[in-house]
Amino acid sequence: MELVHLTDLHFGCEDKAALTAVEKFVDQRKPDAVIVTGDISRDGLASELENACAWMRALAAPVMLTPGNHDVPYYEPLGRLLYPWRRIRRAQHGLIVDAWHTEHWSIAPVNTARAWQIRLNWAQGEISRGQTALAAAELQKAAPGALRIVITHHPLDWPNDAPIKGVTRGGVSALRKLADAGAQLFLSGHLHFASTRLFETKALSIVSGTLSQRVRHEPCAFTVLRRPAPHTIEAEVVHIVQGVCETASVRQFRLGGGASPGAPAELHARVE
Ligand SMILES: [Fe+2]
Repeated sequence: MELVHLTDLHFGCEDKAALTAVEKFVDQRKPDAVIVTGDISRDGLASELENACAWMRALAAPVMLTPGNHDVPYYEPLGRLLYPWRRIRRAQHGLIVDAWHTEHWSIAPVNTARAWQIRLNWAQGEISRGQTALAAAELQKAAPGALRIVITHHPLDWPNDAPIKGVTRGGVSALRKLADAGAQLFLSGHLHFASTRLFETKALSIVSGTLSQRVRHEPCAFTVLRRPAPHTIEAEVVHIVQGVCETASVRQFRLGGGASPGAPAELHARVE
């Protein structure tokens, strides 16, 4: 099983060379699926959302999408209020947007973006108890042995070393509840910064980099996920430098259930 995780494409200020490199990568590797965790546009314009979805549909793999905070009409107060999700819903035809169950994986998408909020920074995310319960219920439908994945735009647990500070409301408690409900892998974006952390050896939390010109401290990047053994997840961070994909690191993590007593949770890491 091989999945490619992309995020923060930001059509409108996309990095065209990075997108071309991803197209080639997917074409050559033929992953089982591509997962995109939102911020596919810059300003939530219909043209940006249409172009982003058309690009995703043209990839040589099935694509699953969940939206981000930039995918609402960003600078249009009326649009945010009256029709925040209309444009992306029109654009996303042909992409997988609901929970996805196969014999190999169950993926529960959760929209953590909000069109408006009772706080100053509307860019930040939130996950409600209702959304958490729905995602947990989806994970219960997983086939035996299927990898249970939750995808969100905002990281539920914000890494301390992230280049931007923030908090996802309800995120930490949702992370715990979903891990208790069997979630093994959390995929998110928003930070434009790659991060991989274990949550109590129960689950792996992965944030991937951006494919836009809005890079923060590191080049455009994405993540490739493999499952070499039932309780092991391998995460390969790929950087795109001058239009060329380069493996930046490959790390393997063993999740609870497969670890022998005293075994390190992180099996080994390779930095290239
Ligand atoms: Fe974002």
